[in-house]
Amino acid sequence: MSSIDLVDTSKPAHPVAPVQLRNVVRQFGEQRVIDGLDLDIAPGEFVALLGASGSGKTTLLRSLAGLDSIDSGQLRVPKARAAVFQEPRLMPWKRAWKNVILGLHIPNAKGRAVQALTEVGLAHRLEAYPATLSGGEAQRVALARGLVREPKLLLLDEPFAALDALTRIRMHRLIIDLWRKHTPAVLLVTHDVDEAILLADRVIVLANGKIAEQLTIDLPRARDSGQEGFQAIRTRLLKLLGVEAVEPAAQVVEPARPLPDNSTRRFAHG
Ligand SMILES: Nc1ncnc2c1ncn2[C@@H]1O[C@H](COP(=O)(O)OP(=O)(O)O)[C@@H](O)[C@H]1O
Ligand SMILES: [Mg+2]
Repeated sequence: MSSIDLVDTSKPAHPVAPVQLRNVVRQFGEQRVIDGLDLDIAPGEFVALLGASGSGKTTLLRSLAGLDSIDSGQLRVPKARAAVFQEPRLMPWKRAWKNVILGLHIPNAKGRAVQALTEVGLAHRLEAYPATLSGGEAQRVALARGLVREPKLLLLDEPFAALDALTRIRMHRLIIDLWRKHTPAVLLVTHDVDEAILLADRVIVLANGKIAEQLTIDLPRARDSGQEGFQAIRTRLLKLLGVEAVEPAAQVVEPARPLPDNSTRRFAHG
């Protein structure tokens, strides 16, 4: 037996977590991809979901987005939710601003699209067709399309994976700025351990259809990989994922030997 419950979290003082999964099962034929999964996400919490390829991350996200059903268990999600995927999924024949409000029936739709595109730094690309946008710009349009729905839950499925390294860094900053401003709960699927630590309040690891491990990341923001404590978390998460961290080449430090009195240190050259 399964139930999907849509919660109107716009009502004030909503007492429970906007995302609540209990014993959720999703299977394809004999394959149980999600196998009795429990998960709560608090209002405004940023959660990163890690897991091996094929572990069911996208399956879980699609169920949360309402794009797929579950076979049993309970799944409670806010009505106001939006998803961004690895590909921007824009309609090629619609201009950027029209893509942002596609399927939405809201007053002043163009004004809202312009506002959302401005927030993602694309005020100058309102009239552009998707084919004329760079990969990063197209993903920002997809993000604006999510934002304009004022989501209480923002679902992100490897949205930065196809972007070059510099664009990805810019997108990380943008996503944190938008999250702080709009305060949705976020579930970010990523295979990038560093990205998870840089962005999330909590990192969960999916294995065998369940949450195998989770780690609260309480490093102060803005974060960077050189920050104290970052590497220790990284090593731990890589171990949980079954990957040994590559240590930086050991620094060879000569022990300082006491020198006999009246002796001179000799330095060999060449
Ligand atoms: N619609 C579907 N029909 C059959 N099998 C599916 C379907 N969707 C996903 N799967 C299978 O479920 C498993 C998990 O897939 P997925 O959720 O995409 O993994 P991940 O996103 O973690 O890489 C894979 O073995 C995949 O082949
Ligand atoms: Mg996936």
